[in-house]
Amino acid sequence: MIRYPFAIALFAGIAGAATPAPMPMPAKMELSTGKLPIDATFGIAGDAGPRLAPVVKRFLGRLSRQTGIFLAPAGTASTLRIECANCGAAYPSLGEDESYQLDVTPAGAQLKAATAEGAIYGLETFLQLVQPGPDGFQVPAVHIEDRPRFAWRGLMLDVSRHFLPVEVIERNLDAMAAVKLNVFHWHLSDDQGFRVESKRYPKLQQLGSDGMFYTQDQLREVVAYARDRGIRVVPEFDIPGHTLSWFPGYPELASGTGPFDIGRHFGVFDPVLDPSREETYTFLDGFIGEMAPLFPDPFFHVGGDEVNGRAWKQSEAVQAFAKSHGLDKTAAIQTYFNQRIQKILKNYGKNMVGWDEILDGDPPQDAIIQSWQGQKSLADAATKGYRGILSSGYYLDHVRPAGYHYGVDPLTGPAAQLTPEQAARVLGGEACMWAELVDAETVDSRVWPRTAAIAERLWSPREVTDVNAMYDRLEVVSRFLEWTGVTHRSSYGPMLNQIGR
Ligand code: ACM
Repeated sequence: MIRYPFAIALFAGIAGAATPAPMPMPAKMELSTGKLPIDATFGIAGDAGPRLAPVVKRFLGRLSRQTGIFLAPAGTASTLRIECANCGAAYPSLGEDESYQLDVTPAGAQLKAATAEGAIYGLETFLQLVQPGPDGFQVPAVHIEDRPRFAWRGLMLDVSRHFLPVEVIERNLDAMAAVKLNVFHWHLSDDQGFRVESKRYPKLQQLGSDGMFYTQDQLREVVAYARDRGIRVVPEFDIPGHTLSWFPGYPELASGTGPFDIGRHFGVFDPVLDPSREETYTFLDGFIGEMAPLFPDPFFHVGGDEVNGRAWKQSEAVQAFAKSHGLDKTAAIQTYFNQRIQKILKNYGKNMVGWDEILDGDPPQDAIIQSWQGQKSLADAATKGYRGILSSGYYLDHVRPAGYHYGVDPLTGPAAQLTPEQAARVLGGEACMWAELVDAETVDSRVWPRTAAIAERLWSPREVTDVNAMYDRLEVVSRFLEWTGVTHRSSYGPMLNQIGR
């Protein structure tokens, strides 16, 4: 285990280069003697292909920013050679080979990867290894063999409670890539705002967003931006609960009495979608059919959390419907609803992801369960044959220290009892940033740097658990993340000024 004394890091330029401190810690890292100087001749060689061309351009921009060295666009020397066996895939996919091997010697560096994603991660590691030394910037001689422990390493951003403009999303995508996260879970609708342009049902955004929503062009832009950083985008439209923002435009979708307004405070509201009317499913078919092609990922999140059942119990129509279908409780009605939704999703080539409430019914076997109410639901899901991801313990809005999140492992606690076959269904986890109490100005400081600790938990071998060593490296990576554009450190002064005014 490498410890990275922070004071030494700060004085690296004077005292000689410090021990490198990448985060997430690579699966295998062997330092040797010597260093590769980084200077104005730096260049990239190898057949990167069209998918990597923008990646390389961005890499050179970051290296230049990080070092202050003006780098020629193509470089003059072949300092770093990239070999990528299968860089052609247009879009990242769950479970693909994300490994890479990075060898740095005083004569040059070589990066080998099986996919564009592996190459992207190798370049990110290289950037984290650049440090000031007595003779200028350098990378220590090193041999790294790296691959993730979990295939699903996500960050969820809630853009409903407070809207986050595209530039905020994009800089967070850059920071995600820097710590090798590969799923952006975009929580696009909730009680407090419907954040997507629908051309088929325009009253959704016209009456449900207070004018703050993404156009379809912006959705495509963000998806392409994420893809260029090896990140899949999983959209979430939370149904049948958390749907107040759908109802000002389309009150006929609701179980519950109107008139309806967007949620103006926080919590769980009674009105939810009406599962008893066929028109509800026609509407959702039209809506999902419109959204499906905008999001190339095969996974589509339909929420499913916190349906309190009050509106259904109070509705004579829903009660009559439930009786005629033999649905004896709220969970059974929701199961019926989910089964209808799953058929719609399948028609558009999508797999369901839902919060762990959907496990109360019998969700379709290929659904992915996102565990938020406790690690037990993840173990229950895996035992019942479902794939799952962990978010319980990774809620950033709970304002817990990084060391707390770092101690939460998808395969400990109740999941420790799983057989190897069941454990293989645990795909990974997601940090969740619910946005009741953050907005565009403050969200970066709530997400970073703590999410880097969660990223390490999901990427690095399970034996990497030394909390003190993590905090030493977190300080380094926190400074490093500022090169990606997130403002968790730089916003401190301006925000303090606002308080003082
Ligand atoms: C949730 O936090 N309601 C998924």
